[in-house]
Amino acid sequence: MTRRATITGWGKCLPPVKLTNADLEHLVDTDDRWIVERTGIKSRSINHMQTTDMAEVAALHALAAAGLEATDIDLIIMATVSPEITCPSNACHLQARLGAVNAAAFDLNAACSGFVYAAITASSMIASGVKQRVLVVGAEQLHWVMDYWDRNTCILFGDGAGAAIFESSTNGDGMLGADLGADGPAGSTMVIESLGTRYNLIEGRDPATSRLHFEGKAVFKIAVQGIAASVRQALDQAGVSADDVNLVVPHQANERIINAAARRLGIGLDRVMINIADHGNTAAASVPMALCDAANTGRITPGDLVVMTAFGGGVTWASAVFRWGQRVTAVGTSDAALPPTDATVFELLAANREFFAPLHSGDA
Ligand code: UT7
Repeated sequence: MTRRATITGWGKCLPPVKLTNADLEHLVDTDDRWIVERTGIKSRSINHMQTTDMAEVAALHALAAAGLEATDIDLIIMATVSPEITCPSNACHLQARLGAVNAAAFDLNAACSGFVYAAITASSMIASGVKQRVLVVGAEQLHWVMDYWDRNTCILFGDGAGAAIFESSTNGDGMLGADLGADGPAGSTMVIESLGTRYNLIEGRDPATSRLHFEGKAVFKIAVQGIAASVRQALDQAGVSADDVNLVVPHQANERIINAAARRLGIGLDRVMINIADHGNTAAASVPMALCDAANTGRITPGDLVVMTAFGGGVTWASAVFRWGQRVTAVGTSDAALPPTDATVFELLAANREFFAPLHSGDA
């Protein structure tokens, strides 16, 4: 009997403070209509805590949905490109917070493709018998690297976390095929220069290299072509066709990218999960949050063929084809939530605006 990894729990954390398109009109020269027409985004969340706080909330919901205790988990993979800290890993930090004392833990960075990379890694470890129950989390605090004076980037991204539990199954469900890849030479299209050792010890942080550098048009093209090719590859490996797919859960970067990729694949939008309107682009958190919304709104039925797909900085891409198991309703629920805050979104972004202001002193 073939052993595969099947998804048995899901959860998310969307921070309570929202940055709406109307709020952005106060920060940059933009308008709600432009943003909605070009991206499909209406609002995104700005976290008032840390990356791991969101990860913990998402993980607690996923554990409850799977009917598991934290001690049942034997591996935690945290996908993030906006870590709270780089040593120890955020996954270790999360392990401590959850009390998941039996779990190995590591972070994985594949930018927006991180969750799908991690899902494939978890599934492979389960299929090989190395691990049995894996918690995979995608968590991002992207507002930290966002220049809220730059309308080209700041309208797109948001904060959040999503989580899923992968468990061993011999019932024929689980991951049937996958594709993942990278194109390092194209990586200059999306860069956060100074989140690592390039940060200059003597001169301190330079706003010019501390913000996300992003070439929107180039990324758009890479994304549409990349998603379609990657999904085809994963479907081929699984021995199924696009017609067999019940639901695609894509990275939520831009609704136009999703629409164009779905068209190329010949998959109607009724078979595509889209929740970008009130999430924005949350990088590695986007696929697990969309998966969670799909499961909680009845978009997945037992035995469905579900495809997760993402592309992002690196450039990286990944797609995974899952035969869903019997679990389509959460076993239990959790009341985990971030602590409330009285801070307004403008208060949360004030330090960021101040830090990046020198880059815009000559703007018209
Ligand atoms: O997760 C992976 C990373 N993210 C993505 O995959 C996103 C990929 N790229 C995109 O989503 C799109 O390229 C954008 C949404 C970033 C831009 O959409 P676009 O249709 O490619 O717009 P554009 O860059 O061609 O800009 C058109 C015009 C420009 O004005 P001019 O030069 O024609 O006068 C921009 O300056 O729109 C202007 N513009 C804006 N106007 C109002 C750019 N940003 C804004 C804005 N509000 N926020």
